[in-house]
Amino acid sequence: MWWLYLLSLLLPLLSAQTYHWGPCPSPKVQPGFSLQKYLGRWFEITKLPASFESGKCIEANYALREDGTIQVLNKQMWRGRSIEGTAVVTDPKEPAKLGVSFSFLSPVGTYWVLYTDYTSIAVVYSCTDILRVSHVDYAWILARSRFPSEETMRNATEILEKAGVKPCELIPTDQTGCLDDTM
Ligand SMILES: *[C@@H]1O[C@H](CO)[C@@H](O)[C@H](O)[C@H]1NC(C)=O
Repeated sequence: MWWLYLLSLLLPLLSAQTYHWGPCPSPKVQPGFSLQKYLGRWFEITKLPASFESGKCIEANYALREDGTIQVLNKQMWRGRSIEGTAVVTDPKEPAKLGVSFSFLSPVGTYWVLYTDYTSIAVVYSCTDILRVSHVDYAWILARSRFPSEETMRNATEILEKAGVKPCELIPTDQTGCLDDTM
């Protein structure tokens, strides 16, 4: 089983991320997803740990480019870093399943909108198979305000649970003491 050996070498490298055995799950996504209504500013409220994100006051802005792709601008207060990425709808029949890449070198990651009401909350899930025997997943709960209601968060967390994400694995993003003119 050479691949098990390989995996045992790879997994420690991925320890900052969340990996599970088995292939990626296929959770339900937002029916009738409207990209137009989804665009704009979202604050990151909580997430599954992702090594490339740290810091506080994390927010994202999604805007349509003239070529039809989506500009993704991630910002945070820590070191004032901002990262620009590109999202695309890979299959028009499944508009809630986007692909996102943050550089020409990085692979396109999945970005599935499991649920959104467009005006208060969005639940996003991303999963990558590793050698078909394991997978790494990311998840984010985004909100239009820095402090969504507890009930909204409970509902959003439940949706992630159905996708196999344990609420105890979610790390809240610090949204206190943020400068509100950073966009
Ligand atoms: C939470 O979910 C319940 C049940 O689906 C729904 O009735 C309620 O409106 C939701 N609350 C919020 C704030 O989204």
